[in-house]
Amino acid sequence: MDRNLALEFVRITEAAALASARWMGRGDEKAADQAAVDAMRRAFNSVRINGTVVIGEGERDEAPMLYIGEKVGIEADDVPAVDIALDPLEGTTICATGGVGATSVMALAESGNFLHAPDTYMDKIACGPGARGAIDIDASPEDNIKAVAKRLGKDAADVTVVILHRPRHEELIARIRKTGVRIQLIGDGDVSAAVATGQPTSGIDLLIGVGGAPEGVISAAALACMGGDFQGRLKFRSEDERRRADKMGMKSLDQALRLHDLCKGNVMFVATGVTTGPLLKGVQFLPGHRATTHSIVMRSATGTIRTIEAEHCLDRKPDGLLNSGARV
Ligand code: FBP
Repeated sequence: MDRNLALEFVRITEAAALASARWMGRGDEKAADQAAVDAMRRAFNSVRINGTVVIGEGERDEAPMLYIGEKVGIEADDVPAVDIALDPLEGTTICATGGVGATSVMALAESGNFLHAPDTYMDKIACGPGARGAIDIDASPEDNIKAVAKRLGKDAADVTVVILHRPRHEELIARIRKTGVRIQLIGDGDVSAAVATGQPTSGIDLLIGVGGAPEGVISAAALACMGGDFQGRLKFRSEDERRRADKMGMKSLDQALRLHDLCKGNVMFVATGVTTGPLLKGVQFLPGHRATTHSIVMRSATGTIRTIEAEHCLDRKPDGLLNSGARV
């Protein structure tokens, strides 16, 4: 994948973030998500790739745009075939309530290198480069915490674990509390939390728990770029979900998924903040129809992690690119 594509991809998450940020705190999750999807879809129209959405807004019959299998980009013979895992607005509730850490995210790989994860749950564990090699999805949370603390040279009391605050995690949280670690319970947005484990300044060492499977693949791509680790196991909510996964061609539905099972080869990860969080600053609207965005773009081939702060002149964007539909 041409490294210069990285900037093109940032423009795409920037567009989605700018459009959905207009809906911050307005209590309308659907409209915020739709604004992000529309802007992301339009932004793809100016990028020279043969892109295929492999993780997106859903199956073709339930999502009119950015559905699984949709072709995006300016197709040509001399441009790369790229598989795309995307979430135009990761944390719809966060955005709708003006909470912490909504982002627009995308991961890209050469064709065939992402797990085509079905829309179900995944049991996840993620850590940054300092703890790589210490985590194992097959081990207990207690053993993982012990191994990570040892690898990082920390006491358990100095380790911070992020967990989605959900009733399904009650027992997990109780067990983890007994280990003595610090815990950050988050309402939503486990992609940002997973990526934060790879950022030394975030103060977050480990993500544990069950979240969306598509988000798991996107997180894995980010940690592959950062030199961290991510492992998972699909958790089906129903027999129907199992059947769908089977139909999608997944070989073994219950296997432990290591990083290389989730993403392989050269991958890129791009994210732009919608609301401010541990990873990125949110969109800020300035006087004179201007706005700032804060993005991160990383490539596994080189391990470069680039942050991009941009100031946009909203009046000069191509027609309709950021048309969020927000009432002003
Ligand atoms: P959305 O952006 O689709 O709302 O997802 C937010 C999120 O918190 C993800 O980060 C996480 O993986 C998933 O939802 C968890 O699912 P659930 O809310 O069903 O527990």
